[in-house]
Amino acid sequence: MSDIDWGQGTYESTAADLAPAARELVAAARIQPGEHVVDVGAGTGNAALLAADLGARVTAVEPADRLRAVIQANTGDRDVTSVNGTAAAIPLPDASVDVLLSNFAVIFAPDPQAAAAEFARVATPTGRVLLTSWVPGGFDEVIGILVRTVREVTGSGEAMEGRIDWHDPKALSELFAPFGFEVSATVHELSFRASSAAEYWSTRMAQHPLGVATFPLLEKAGRLEEVRGLVLEKIAEKWTHPGGGIELPARYLLAVAAR
Ligand SMILES: C[S@@+](CC[C@H](N)C(=O)[O-])C[C@H]1O[C@@H](n2cnc3c(N)ncnc32)[C@H](O)[C@@H]1O
Repeated sequence: MSDIDWGQGTYESTAADLAPAARELVAAARIQPGEHVVDVGAGTGNAALLAADLGARVTAVEPADRLRAVIQANTGDRDVTSVNGTAAAIPLPDASVDVLLSNFAVIFAPDPQAAAAEFARVATPTGRVLLTSWVPGGFDEVIGILVRTVREVTGSGEAMEGRIDWHDPKALSELFAPFGFEVSATVHELSFRASSAAEYWSTRMAQHPLGVATFPLLEKAGRLEEVRGLVLEKIAEKWTHPGGGIELPARYLLAVAAR
């Protein structure tokens, strides 16, 4: 599931959910006008556009063709260039980047060590890396229902060799230490609201790239309705909001690696 095309479906509704975390990430980076900032796995450009608004020269690295087009369409007169690339293959020269940002994106890199090495290569000697990653216990329980069932259906345990716990500051310290970075981290919280569990399913899951990639497999295996039922039940049971609708909590780590 790590090689899905994030351009399929409608990632935009999730991007809106993640925008508050992008704001925290960019604020924590203390960006100075004129700095070269790279948003790795930029999606629709949540962090890239905010960094450009602070006067940065921004490169948005994004592997999905459609999302790069969305960034370009949203750029206006900001100094943002979108390029095709991944965390482990950033098409920029050595020591050319002041700040690397990655809002819930480098966590999808199949080879975290290669990604860290690439970040270290493009960063200037005083360059800094800031990333966000999910802390377990919250909306990921819902995603877990989907992912577990897809694995059962496809018979493939996702290859986890080499993967790290991106929410664990110690794992991040070990990942970045060989490149001279020291890591500090804080925990923050987001929440995802919808008018009902069914609306959450249709707007955030069925149209999400992960849903678009996996729902046909579940349907073919006769498991889609079961997964939908389990998801709706869990949301209604745990996260019905007293003021109406539903609200899913989502805690995340904001990590800063600096040298
Ligand atoms: C959850 S979205 C986050 C997008 C964006 N940063 C935001 O704030 O909305 C994950 C993004 O990571 C990108 N991505 C997936 N694999 C990647 C990789 N190996 N390296 C860099 N980006 C990757 C996807 O294309 C997608 O845009």
